[in-house]
Amino acid sequence: MAEYREVPIYDIPLRLQGKDDKVHKRPKPHIDAATYKSNYQASITKVDEFWGKLGRETIDWDVPFKTVRHGDFEKGDVAWFPEGQLNASYNCVDRWAYKCPDKTAIIWEADEPGQGKEITYKELLSEVSQVANALLDMGIRKGDAVIVYLPMIPEAAIALLACARIGAVHSVVFAGFSADSLRDRTVDCDARVVITTDEGKRGGRTIATKSIVDAALKECPKVEHCLVVKRTGSNVEWQEGRDKWWHEAAAAQRPYCPPVPVSSEDPLFILYTSGSTGKPKGVVHTTAGYLLGTALTVKHIFDVHEDDRFACMADVGWITGHSYIVYGPLMNGITTLIFESTPVYPTASRYWEVVARHKITQFYTAPTSIRLLRRLGEEHVQGHDLSSLRIIGTVGEPINPEAWDWYNENVGKKECAVVDTYWQTETGAHMIAPFPGATKTKPGAATVPFWGVELALLDPTSGQVLEGNEVEGVLAVKQPWPSMARTIKGDHQRFLDVYMKPYPGYYFTGDGAARDKDGYIWIKGRVDDVCNVSGHRIGTAEIESALIQHPGVSESAVVGVPDEVTGQSICAYVALKPSFSYDSEDALVKELVLQVRRNIGPFAAPKMILIVNDLPKTRSGKIMRRILRKIASNEADQLGDLSSLADPSVVEKLKGDWLKKA
Ligand code: PRX
Repeated sequence: MAEYREVPIYDIPLRLQGKDDKVHKRPKPHIDAATYKSNYQASITKVDEFWGKLGRETIDWDVPFKTVRHGDFEKGDVAWFPEGQLNASYNCVDRWAYKCPDKTAIIWEADEPGQGKEITYKELLSEVSQVANALLDMGIRKGDAVIVYLPMIPEAAIALLACARIGAVHSVVFAGFSADSLRDRTVDCDARVVITTDEGKRGGRTIATKSIVDAALKECPKVEHCLVVKRTGSNVEWQEGRDKWWHEAAAAQRPYCPPVPVSSEDPLFILYTSGSTGKPKGVVHTTAGYLLGTALTVKHIFDVHEDDRFACMADVGWITGHSYIVYGPLMNGITTLIFESTPVYPTASRYWEVVARHKITQFYTAPTSIRLLRRLGEEHVQGHDLSSLRIIGTVGEPINPEAWDWYNENVGKKECAVVDTYWQTETGAHMIAPFPGATKTKPGAATVPFWGVELALLDPTSGQVLEGNEVEGVLAVKQPWPSMARTIKGDHQRFLDVYMKPYPGYYFTGDGAARDKDGYIWIKGRVDDVCNVSGHRIGTAEIESALIQHPGVSESAVVGVPDEVTGQSICAYVALKPSFSYDSEDALVKELVLQVRRNIGPFAAPKMILIVNDLPKTRSGKIMRRILRKIASNEADQLGDLSSLADPSVVEKLKGDWLKKA
């Protein structure tokens, strides 16, 4: 039986029903309840007809497709619109540059309030073209990978679109990753060009972006060029021949670059994400299906209309930034915001100042920010004109009903649609989310599937489908949808093993979910060893392999534990080599944290590290993380069955160690 809570069901806000739109000039939502239902049915039963029509309407094609969908999960040969050819940059930029050249494409809200700029579609076309031509000059051609290591500046979007314009495959590495992580990703995707800045700015602090890149590139012999955006103008080290200023390289180029048509199934980008085992996987998204998924979810889940100003506060280094800062909004020809700062810089009103200043119509953030702002108090929201907002969304982790209610009342003023959107790096676009004009909402529930997403809840052990309502199991998808990832870079077998093998015939999400009495879906969180800290996905295995690189560590086990603000936090149990001696435990713990920061990045740093003698293991030597999770969650009284433990005394000792530390 599901643990979801009894919560009220909210009707669609009156102002979204178009009833008083004379007063508020709010457009009527595109989709009502009946249309959602009939479209959903058609999307999974009349696949060719439904998706063929949307494919033709949504994308401008250089060569039309003949086939709509090909392939299946088991073979992993899924292809959408295979004969079609198109260009992503043309679809996101040129068509609007010709239709509405002076419309703002990008609003950049810089770290310091009031700084920043706006870029029109006409300007975007020139800037994207110049950078695309600069990349061509560097020898980059269709299919080549380009690493983008940029903070939240407009050049991040421009870089992506410039790659797409010439058919190059971008791979953005979140600028919070360390030099080691950047090096591994650069090598894994064979990149010859890296795009970065001299420095980054965030929350009043400066980030030494270029020097991180310099350190990474020491071990990337294939990288020939580093294109550097001047953000702060500080002195940075310069490697003649390799390093080039972005503004100089761009200024030397013609401001038009013909878009290169690519196949629907050519890769648009690679984005690395964490799994439960091994090193991060380079998830590959292809062009047409991904663009269609992001375009349609922006249109329908955020219900965008022509003059909308869309603000997604994620970082472009994660999938949310790719799909809902860059591709989705620009595929719809609306205005998108790039936000360089944090929700609390210089004050906890920053988000609301941004909304008021730019008259934002859709606002999208992570539950962790909402929980943080809720804790800081509603006075920070009051006094800001948020009346432009129509849709407010969340993504990245389950939102607790209290945070949902706070968001609805204080930010949405109970007059906005609150859309809790469930999806993943691998899914490319929203999978489960309410439609603003069609779906009644429930605080905490992701609600209903998007078109084309045929969900199944499966019994985790038998794999049997759980029919009906009031059931809980693992979440899977029954048939391919357009925006799904196609493979893992260089390791298709891993793609099949992780997603397609666990439950044959289904795509396995790795999440647990429940269906409530009304048929609504509630996401329960990961059922594997993947943590979600502030909406950042981190594999426990990655942190363990960082810790083990410290000379004193013999073994470690990392678990995610519930955290009021960040959703989960990371707790590491570390056993030391008997020969290793140290003076102060505090100093050692600091070293270990530094080890993780250096190896992965600051966002992966454990909140708690416990030095222990032994880890609880089964007789076959497997670490029993379940026990570690319970102890770290202060639930040591609910350890369950311990009969498979090799040495039960380890647990008693651990409980004692935990109590001393916590
Ligand atoms: O566990 C789910 C959680 O985030 C995971 C995907 O992480 P990532 O690939 O980094 O993408 C995050 C942005 C899409 C999922 O497996 N997750 C994402 N959205 C939600 C969520 N959990 C609950 N509710 C959501 N709305």
